[in-house]
Amino acid sequence: MNTPKRYLITAALPYANGLKHIGHLAGAYLPADIYVRYLKAQKRDVVFVCGSDEHGTAIPIQATKEGTTAQAIIDKYHPIIEQNFKDLGIAFDIYHRTSDALHHETASAFFKDLEAKGDLETKTSLQYYDAAANSFLADRYIKGTCPNCGHHEAYGDQCEKCGKSLSPEELINPVSTLSGNVPIKKETTHWYLPLNKHEDFLREWILKEHANDWRPAVVGQCKSWIDGGLQPRAVTRDLDWGVKVPVAGGDGKVLYVWFDAPIGYISATKQWAKDNGKDWTPYWNDAETKLVHFIGKDNIVFHCIIFPIMLKLHGHILPESVPANEFMNLEGDKMSTSKGWSIEMDDYINKWIKKENGGTGLADSLRFYLTSIAPESKDSEFTWKGFQESVNGELVSIFANYVNRTWVLMHKLCKGKVPPIHPDLLDEEDNAILQSVKDSKAKITELLEQYKFRDALFEVINLARIGNQYMQKKEPWIVAKNLATDPTAQAKIDNCMHACLQLCANLAILVNPFLPFTARKMCYLMKVVDKMLDWENAGNFNLLKVGYSLRPPELLFRKIEDEEIEAELSQLQTNLKAKKITMDTITTTDASTAPEANDNAFKPEIVFDDFGKIDLRVGTIIDAKKVEKADKLLQLEVELGLEKRTILSGIAMHFEPSDIIGKQVVVVANLAPRKMRGVESKGMILMAEDAHGKLYFVQPSEAIAAGSKIS
Ligand code: 2FM
Ligand code: ZN
Repeated sequence: MNTPKRYLITAALPYANGLKHIGHLAGAYLPADIYVRYLKAQKRDVVFVCGSDEHGTAIPIQATKEGTTAQAIIDKYHPIIEQNFKDLGIAFDIYHRTSDALHHETASAFFKDLEAKGDLETKTSLQYYDAAANSFLADRYIKGTCPNCGHHEAYGDQCEKCGKSLSPEELINPVSTLSGNVPIKKETTHWYLPLNKHEDFLREWILKEHANDWRPAVVGQCKSWIDGGLQPRAVTRDLDWGVKVPVAGGDGKVLYVWFDAPIGYISATKQWAKDNGKDWTPYWNDAETKLVHFIGKDNIVFHCIIFPIMLKLHGHILPESVPANEFMNLEGDKMSTSKGWSIEMDDYINKWIKKENGGTGLADSLRFYLTSIAPESKDSEFTWKGFQESVNGELVSIFANYVNRTWVLMHKLCKGKVPPIHPDLLDEEDNAILQSVKDSKAKITELLEQYKFRDALFEVINLARIGNQYMQKKEPWIVAKNLATDPTAQAKIDNCMHACLQLCANLAILVNPFLPFTARKMCYLMKVVDKMLDWENAGNFNLLKVGYSLRPPELLFRKIEDEEIEAELSQLQTNLKAKKITMDTITTTDASTAPEANDNAFKPEIVFDDFGKIDLRVGTIIDAKKVEKADKLLQLEVELGLEKRTILSGIAMHFEPSDIIGKQVVVVANLAPRKMRGVESKGMILMAEDAHGKLYFVQPSEAIAAGSKIS
């Protein structure tokens, strides 16, 4: 494509079912933002859209976990996620949401059009149905044993233990999570997108046209889908949360979340156009628009195969590129909020940025490290030590150090003003520095055009390194010692400081897509407006006018201390442990005083003798029933070998009594009895709780005799 007339840049719509972590940030949003900032600095016509993905089963499932409604969940997380992105400098032109009426209208019309044109097929099949709950079961609402690894809690779409993608039919002993009953099969009719009919188009478009300009991993994944044989894909579901199926026969059905979510890019563009008095249509319909989707690798099939077919059928342009990233791991393990092994954007913002009022560049420090380890061609690894080394070793020691030395010396040796040039005294090194800027700009531009953000950032830092070397060679502070004796000394200093300052101005332009807060702070120090950051200004050494007085030096970044890294590492371990084992305190305290799920601090140290006082036994639940007028309590009869016990446990919101009879549990057998709701509870059941507040029984790995001791 020649220089496009306009750009439409999308970043995957995050599910509004919880906080998003820095792996998400590094995967889609940060690279998209860098690209958009670069395009905007080139004054290109570009719209950057994103928003919350508020449909699918992820939302009602989270609502069940939090004991609230799906609407309350999206209303809680949508604004937090939006604000988190802002605080980290991700500058969408619009952050929309798929629950918005405009999106419902857009997705409905899209579906209707395809249906009317005969582009969709209907098929009646038998699907799992929960008779007690009077509801068809979405894949996530069916649990059973994984055929691959034997895990008993695998979901109908995936086993979270071994990671295998499943269909509900593959589960052994499937159970409905709604009622705990074994589901029956019942006929239902759905609409399908016949991917198989578009194989020739996909082969031509991806495997020929884009075989060389898309990332190999993206083309590779598409090829294996296509070669594996494309099948019709259901685009509707029996659910009551989502965009209603707008045609006859659609009662009680909604569009599949992966059908409606990418249409969210279009509705977001419409909303943006409405808000800004623009026409949205050329952004989606004109061949001179360059559409780019930034996503993580788990979204490739939807953005490269399914959505393009939908776009083609509905008469839109196709993406020019889909620069999908691999995953970013954390300290040797996969990042996962539910396992407590992640760094939420919200946490980083509260702990690192807000504490210092954003004043010490800590948003950009994170952007810097994440870009420098961007998983562009393979999975990468975030480590806190790596963060410290990268910030201290490159941002502080090279970039900030160069800018700071320039400012300090300019104030000391040039009265805080941009010094004049003395052409007769310019030497090879002075000329070389301008050439370095031009060369760097060319390289950075080329790399950004190829979505190689990691290498492009490296070039920016390299330019600051060249600046440091230049200054080190020129040693203006040494020349200053000869001011009394060398009549050319001030002129030499002027030439050096002039070049150093112009290089700083160029660095601000080149670093702007990556570190926007820093670029703006540099503009503040230079007393210039943001307009100076236009890309066309890079490679120019007249950006700061001679005689112009600049502000006093201010640090751009601060060092990251060892203690801060140690605290983060131990916090990570604490989070992990807190999500593994949480005592079921509700048997001894009122539910309302139970600790919050995020109350992660360790309890004060105890000695072994303290622990030895606790009598832990394996018990078997032989009966369970609800307690009158106590929503949260179940009354359990537990076999402890020597005797049977009545134990009240605050798990009624999590388990049906009939589901837990026969389960083995760990019991604190010598806890003093306590009376609640007129019933005496003798003991306590240990439970584990995950990040979402979901409870799990702590159990022996195999069934053993009730009453067995635990030590
Ligand atoms: O994987 C996800 O988080 C999805 N919510 C991404 C959707 S991208 C687009 F299609 F909306
Ligand atoms: Zn498995």
